[in-house]
Amino acid sequence: MGTPANLIIQGALAIALLLVTALQVGVADTDAFFSLRQRENIKFWADELGDELWYLGQSITKATDMKARYKKLHLRVQEKDGEAILKEIVDNVQRMLDRKMDAVRCIVIAAEDAAESFNRTNVPENYTFYSAKDSYIAGDTEQSENLDNSTYTPMELYTDSHFYNIPVNLNYSIVHVPTNIYYEDDPVYDTIKWSESLDDVFIQNYYSDPALSFQYFGSSLGIMRSYPGSGTFKQQPALRTL
Ligand SMILES: *[C@@H]1O[C@H](CO)[C@@H](O)[C@H](O)[C@H]1NC(C)=O
Ligand SMILES: *[C@@H]1O[C@H](CO)[C@@H](O)[C@H](O)[C@H]1NC(C)=O
Ligand SMILES: *[C@@H]1O[C@H](CO)[C@@H](O)[C@H](O)[C@H]1NC(C)=O
Ligand SMILES: *[C@@H]1O[C@H](CO)[C@@H](O)[C@H](O)[C@H]1NC(C)=O
Repeated sequence: MGTPANLIIQGALAIALLLVTALQVGVADTDAFFSLRQRENIKFWADELGDELWYLGQSITKATDMKARYKKLHLRVQEKDGEAILKEIVDNVQRMLDRKMDAVRCIVIAAEDAAESFNRTNVPENYTFYSAKDSYIAGDTEQSENLDNSTYTPMELYTDSHFYNIPVNLNYSIVHVPTNIYYEDDPVYDTIKWSESLDDVFIQNYYSDPALSFQYFGSSLGIMRSYPGSGTFKQQPALRTL
């Protein structure tokens, strides 16, 4: 904190000194051109300028005040190794990104496995899924117009400080189906079904990295899963066209 103030003062002093030196050099070189009286004038102006800069530096930086305050609070100016600080930040960011990449890698592997081993005939007739827009939400005053318990699994949500106090359910993900995509098309429906097994990975990722918040899986067919389950997309009409 004291360092910039000191720097400014030093800077101001340096400028003043330079000016004085320059003017004196000028005086030395140009003895022939200036009369004694003129030289005295120049020296006077240089000194004036130097003093003004010094006082300006003092008043702008409040250096005296700061020094007094430092003394009062028993503070010390300490030198910090900028490179060490930077290295620590880089290491922390690297660790954080590594964890996120691990989480994503787990999702990718699980998605590939699930898609490959998926067998439509093994899915029960009464299959339902958690819909971001149309699931029944327990305790919610405004339910979806398309509410249909035989297609969309009802949800129970709980506020969670880890997710900015948005009501969520950490036990499952929800499916977003854009309005222009028909969920009952076989490839789309299949994707919704096999991607449900990603819930295990989402949950595992979440519990192994507490810094992780929302996790998503998007399919080229247009559907998206997001974890944890929540009703946020229902209350934001602007997001319905996702
Ligand atoms: C899917 O499962 C059914 C019954 O479990 C089996 O008869 C069928 O061969 C399987 N299909 C594939 C492609 O594995
Ligand atoms: C689906 O049907 C089976 C039996 O036919 C039943 O055990 C199961 O609870 C049903 N699942 C849902 C989600 O309704
Ligand atoms: C849907 O299920 C919820 C909870 O299981 C129930 O409270 C609600 O009445 C059901 N809605 C309809 C339309 O069946
Ligand atoms: C999640 O599921 C577990 C059991 O599998 C249950 O004990 C817990 O209450 C559920 N949590 C939520 C938020 O629904």
